[in-house]
Amino acid sequence: MATRRALTGIRTTGRLHLGHYIGALKQWIQVQDTGNIECFFLLADVQALTTHADRPEVLANSIRDVVLDWLAVGLNPNRTNVHFVLQSQVPERAALSQLLQMIAYKNEVERNPTLKAELEQQHRGRHSTTMGFMTYPIDQVADILMVCPYPPEPGDELLVPVGEDQVPHLEYARVLARRFNEKYNRRVFIPCEPIVGRVGRLVGIDGQAKMSKSLDNAIYLSDNPEIIRRKVMRMFTDPKRVRADIPGETENNPVFIYHRAFNSDEAEVSDLTERYQKGKVGDTEVKNKLVKALNSFLDPIRENRCQFERTNLREIVVDGTQAAREACKPVLAAATEAMFLRFPT
Ligand code: TRP
Repeated sequence: MATRRALTGIRTTGRLHLGHYIGALKQWIQVQDTGNIECFFLLADVQALTTHADRPEVLANSIRDVVLDWLAVGLNPNRTNVHFVLQSQVPERAALSQLLQMIAYKNEVERNPTLKAELEQQHRGRHSTTMGFMTYPIDQVADILMVCPYPPEPGDELLVPVGEDQVPHLEYARVLARRFNEKYNRRVFIPCEPIVGRVGRLVGIDGQAKMSKSLDNAIYLSDNPEIIRRKVMRMFTDPKRVRADIPGETENNPVFIYHRAFNSDEAEVSDLTERYQKGKVGDTEVKNKLVKALNSFLDPIRENRCQFERTNLREIVVDGTQAAREACKPVLAAATEAMFLRFPT
């Protein structure tokens, strides 16, 4: 029977926010719930170091935080098809990464649009760029290809549910997989398939294109109701609407974007939208209703998180990591063999 696998991951740089939920976690849960797909959810702690090597101590609790957020939203490692994997604890993955470096060209990595955008940010902040950072796209390809079904059978699948910004990395995984197979005349890797969510990205509370910790415009899954209220009250709306009786814009208005994403009361959302466009509702009412909607969305997540505080997270991650190691062993062996790395006869 054909093997269906999925791998995706997140850098463990801290608690997760609503943008992670919309851009990633929501799709991951769907993939998990499909049932016949073996899912590897990667805690990318090595990749987190590509930006935090100067102060790894700020990441000390981040693995625990990410695992708690994952459990809280419904990722379920009790299911036999679900594994939480700690990147740094899969030595086979690091070995595979090193082999892939040999067939990855410097200039193609430098052209990667996601890497380029991140480099620009680093330069603006006058941070030096490390080699670990420059090579992370190849390392990420190793993350994905480590769970290639091996030996590949017709119909096997390797799915990667991600946000829009990760697509260049997945394309690169396809490039390196094909290049390896062609160069060494062996079918070691299969091409991965991206699954990109319909709503790829959530704006920040300041209306900037992306919700992110570094921009300080995020609402976290674990924020308490009081913090939710404060953050919603300082959210950007339609800047041209200086009074409540002026017709307002709702399409690109962050408060309405959030209403559409998180308010399950569709009648309320269309009523507010209509009145806002006619200049018949004030920002405060729209925001109060958003606070309520966000809290109904987050209540069960926060409750779950509290419950899971008492579970043995270590055991979950140790087991999931072991599953990834087992998946990677035959892939690494085949790649090593193909490159003639072996004892003399
Ligand atoms: N780059 C992803 C992020 O920024 C994390 C990640 C690491 C990842 N390895 C991966 C995503 C493999 C998908 C597949 O959060």
